[in-house]
Amino acid sequence: MRAFLLRRSGGPDVLQLTSQPDPVPGAGQVRVRVDAIGLNWAEVLSRKGLYGWAPKRPYIPGMEATGTIDALGAGVTGRRVGEPVIVAAQYGCYAEAVVVPERQALPVMTGFSVEENAAVAVNYATAWVALMEMARLRPSDRVLVTAAAGGVGTAAIQIASRAGCRVVGLAGSEEKLALIRELGAEAAVNYRAADFRARLREVAGAERFDVVLELVGGDVFRSAWPVLAPFGRVVVAGFASLDYAWWNPVSWLRTLRDIPRAGISALATGSHGLLATHLGYLVGDGPRLARLWADLRSFGETHGIRPVVGRTFAFEEMAAAHRYLESRASVGKIVVRVTPTT
Ligand SMILES: NC(=O)c1ccc[n+]([C@@H]2O[C@H](COP(=O)([O-])OP(=O)(O)OC[C@H]3O[C@@H](n4cnc5c(N)ncnc54)[C@H](OP(=O)(O)O)[C@@H]3O)[C@@H](O)[C@H]2O)c1
Repeated sequence: MRAFLLRRSGGPDVLQLTSQPDPVPGAGQVRVRVDAIGLNWAEVLSRKGLYGWAPKRPYIPGMEATGTIDALGAGVTGRRVGEPVIVAAQYGCYAEAVVVPERQALPVMTGFSVEENAAVAVNYATAWVALMEMARLRPSDRVLVTAAAGGVGTAAIQIASRAGCRVVGLAGSEEKLALIRELGAEAAVNYRAADFRARLREVAGAERFDVVLELVGGDVFRSAWPVLAPFGRVVVAGFASLDYAWWNPVSWLRTLRDIPRAGISALATGSHGLLATHLGYLVGDGPRLARLWADLRSFGETHGIRPVVGRTFAFEEMAAAHRYLESRASVGKIVVRVTPTT
């Protein structure tokens, strides 16, 4: 099979196609022939050597894909060859075939295209865990989402607005603000504009926000606290603005300054909560993953939610797809198509 094997860290061009033996499913595993891959910010970090959950190189990156089961390992009885699935993994999906424990081969979403099925697992599970399970969203909550036009952000806007909440999204361009409003937000604010803080205060009004889903870090994280209502909670699920290089001590200092943090006395004074989540724990927890996926599928079907696929690249264009995700120009999910569109 063809696969991107990460041998060293670096820029997008370290992603080179190689020829690898087809993986063989062991006991309790299935092999999935991949049709399309969903790209994630964590894979940009992995490629740069900045992702703590990455295995030792060389390895095949890629956390999610969609395709068809084409081989079953010993003891797998409840699955069938030919079954269309979505793969949720820590790595291994930048390939024509991937082997995972059967719990990580999830049922596809009814009526979704291949691209949409490649775009759903990580973004929606992250938004769901952060909003519904950690922040315990209620329809009366007012929600602020940062990096709201990206993969996780668009999922969060859709989930929170369909849950009955009033939602505001923050993003870095006027085009992105329009998308955020289209997806169901009552307002959207550009955090790269000079008057960002004043504009955010104005939109927050006296009511402020009950829940903030924070994905950026630095100034954006700091800007959330003055607009958080008493009993409000901030859920940190990422810090996309943090970028550091081992060889650059200034970047370590910037990271130290910008990594999200809050003191307990400040939280107590405001009656605020700070939570953080990492989806990595989900793939090893079969019962939780199955429950969450069932909840998400049923919620998505009830509310007619479909992921925003911003752009699709060919398998051979993986480096260009990474470059595009890093450029901040992307909206929604970037999908890489492995088999040709039929
Ligand atoms: N906790 C978890 O388990 C989990 C799971 C999935 C993702 N995440 C995190 O969620 C965040 C979003 O992930 P994603 O895959 O959906 O990516 P994404 O949002 O589609 O892309 C990243 C976005 O971050 C924004 N951003 C803000 N400041 C930036 C900066 N200085 N440099 C580059 N981008 C910047 C950009 O949007 P604007 O131009 O609009 O600012 C960019 O489009 C990431 O931080 C990721 O690590 C966490």
